[in-house]
Amino acid sequence: MDHFLYRDGVLHAEDVPLPAIAAAVGTPVYVYARATLTRHYRLFAEALDGLPHLICYAVKANGNLAVLKLLGDLGAGMDVVSGGEYARARAAGVPGSRIVFSGVGKTRAEMAQALAGGIRQFNVESEPELEALSEVAAGLGVEAPVALRLNPDVDARTHPKIATGGAETKFGIPMGQAVAVYTRAAALPGIRPVGLDLHIGSQLTDLAPYEQAYLRLAGLTRAMRAEGHRIDRLDLGGGLGIPYTRSNAVPPLPSEYGALVRRIFGDLDCEIEIEPGRLIAGNAGILLAAAIYVKPGAQRRFLILDAAMNDLIRPTMYDAHHDIVPVQEAAPGAETLPYDVVGPVCETGDIFARDRALPAMAPGDLVAFRSAGAYGAVMASEYNARPLVPEVLVDGDHFAVIRARPTFDAMLARDTIPEWLGPPGACAEPTGGADA
Ligand code: LLP
Repeated sequence: MDHFLYRDGVLHAEDVPLPAIAAAVGTPVYVYARATLTRHYRLFAEALDGLPHLICYAVKANGNLAVLKLLGDLGAGMDVVSGGEYARARAAGVPGSRIVFSGVGKTRAEMAQALAGGIRQFNVESEPELEALSEVAAGLGVEAPVALRLNPDVDARTHPKIATGGAETKFGIPMGQAVAVYTRAAALPGIRPVGLDLHIGSQLTDLAPYEQAYLRLAGLTRAMRAEGHRIDRLDLGGGLGIPYTRSNAVPPLPSEYGALVRRIFGDLDCEIEIEPGRLIAGNAGILLAAAIYVKPGAQRRFLILDAAMNDLIRPTMYDAHHDIVPVQEAAPGAETLPYDVVGPVCETGDIFARDRALPAMAPGDLVAFRSAGAYGAVMASEYNARPLVPEVLVDGDHFAVIRARPTFDAMLARDTIPEWLGPPGACAEPTGGADA
């Protein structure tokens, strides 16, 4: 369920009509609904109610400070994968004691940053990383809490670019090496092993791969405890999928996922951590765009929008489907036409959808890409020197710009022309050449 619904024929975000946001902020723009973010966080909290747990929202899904602050105030922890994400979580007010640091390539600088600022745990993915962390922590005279990220070697049955739990991927430590590495960790200076971790992939639409991986993790936990290892926490990763189309089968609900977690881990007396990103933010956001032209091609009809692949890369990168709906609701029974929905970027791959059925569109008409709150704005770029897409947060009947669209001046000011190239803004006259 989300909070982007038609009212009197106009698509709203909560109680705000989207044309009002387009008029005030311009397009393209991401629009998030506070009510949906809150609701999705609470669904997980209810699903794990009664189990000692922390929901560590995956900042990579949507790292806007306002989104992090909102979730942090609900009690969320954060899962970060870079010094930048760590800084964002802290700037939003999330204490270090609620932040887990994931990622296969943490640098020593990032380790030191998190140790100095406070950290709940590092999810360590290799022995070389463990050694580096030991040196950094011991050098600072502190202890780094560590969970070992394991690779359970399961098939997550998702898009290959976002499956992480197979033996052929770069992620985690093979299950068979867990005991040896955990034993080593306990002996290293500056390291305090606190538990185990895994994350098998993203946009999972079936609980079976979770069940397979979690049963392995629970079995390993029991076996390791029997050998005298102390395991207090289990981080179960994120990855629960969302419905991207209204017609698709509905992925498992957080409550069903929670029941699975209880069944497998309920009697282990462990603190459970989960790292959901997409399910919290995905359907809490849309990308609002306007039509620039309708271009009749030789064989196809192109709807050229002011949003492009640099603003929402998922269709280009993963062939991902996003529902695209008109902001002015089509009259019941109105004729639809097949459009190839594209952006203005100079690449053939700048295409959002082929043969998408929409009512007749005209320049200036607004459309919304649904389910764009996760892995949308965070993956945006300024390719083709297009300003980074802004973001708006709606709360009931009001909204705020939570990231402004940069001006061209601000974008230009980031570059520097070195003195030895001559004064900026005045190019030398061309010399020689065919016309000289
Ligand atoms: N924890 C770890 C260690 C992760 O690597 C990820 C996502 C998550 C949690 C959160 O997973 P979620 O609950 O959001 O599925 N850009 C891609 C998704 C990449 C996901 C990477 N890791 C997309 O647009 O589909």
